[in-house]
Amino acid sequence: MRQLKWLGSALGGLAALVAAGSAWAVTIGFSQVGSEGDWRPAFSADMKEEAKKQGIDLKFADAQGKQEEQLKAVRAFIAQKVDAIIIAPVVVTGWDAVLKEAKAAGIPVFLADRDVDVADKSLFVTRISADFNLEGKLAGAWLAQASKGNCQIVELQGTTGSAPAIERKKGFEAVIGNFPQMKIVKSQSGNFTTDGGKQVMESFIKATDGLKGICAVFAHNDNMQLGAIQAMKEAGLKPGKDVLMVSVDYVPAMKKALAAGEANASVELRSAIGKYIYPVVQEYLKGKKEWPKWVMIPSDMHRAASPAE
Ligand code: AHR
Repeated sequence: MRQLKWLGSALGGLAALVAAGSAWAVTIGFSQVGSEGDWRPAFSADMKEEAKKQGIDLKFADAQGKQEEQLKAVRAFIAQKVDAIIIAPVVVTGWDAVLKEAKAAGIPVFLADRDVDVADKSLFVTRISADFNLEGKLAGAWLAQASKGNCQIVELQGTTGSAPAIERKKGFEAVIGNFPQMKIVKSQSGNFTTDGGKQVMESFIKATDGLKGICAVFAHNDNMQLGAIQAMKEAGLKPGKDVLMVSVDYVPAMKKALAAGEANASVELRSAIGKYIYPVVQEYLKGKKEWPKWVMIPSDMHRAASPAE
């Protein structure tokens, strides 16, 4: 009788937990790119915080910018039999084999932020991210307007082979291609880092005799732009005044640069996106199996012109 009573109260407790939606905590493995700029650590912090809020057991792996580390992390998640895997891929290529392993193990994979280039799209459920191509277009459209369609541009590219570097470049070029007097005259990767942006800008300054004839810098992220601003100031130039400065992310340091007039525009890439990502994963695990291949997060344009923006 005592045993029956115990069973009864145990079942009652279980039912209450299920009703509260907190039974069987979901375990998710998240393979993050690294912490190359200011945006990425903000995104990592948000993913950890949001996981706590949603009662998710998050296994977080920082790949320090190396795809080999991501492949190891994903294989470790598979061995641990997590319920789902989220990947923010460093580069777009080289994912087929590991994604097939996850599929064979019955573990659904979700892409966050960056994209992969795989022939078989069934290897991942969906990608939850902003539209990098649109960000490039917004930057190009802003510059076309600010320069009246006449501008020699230097470009600081992100990590070679990464989705944001590929797509932002494409989007930007698609817009400036409509203006015969707008041209990218120099372009090099600064690997999304402040140091990388500074070094590349120093070499551009030398090669163009102090940016002579250059009207704008388009950087694929704010950190490279912040490095470029340092390099230009050290060379006695006035970024934001002598040369137009447009980039992507809208991180706090860029907001300050915009307010100081050392930068002119930044397209915001939202970093607090766990609230968009986890519900997709959770709903999938609960049975909603049909998702479009891309769940898009909006991007917003910010200019130095008005303090309200
Ligand atoms: O994938 C998004 C990009 O990655 C961000 O714009 C950049 O700051 C980061 O390195």
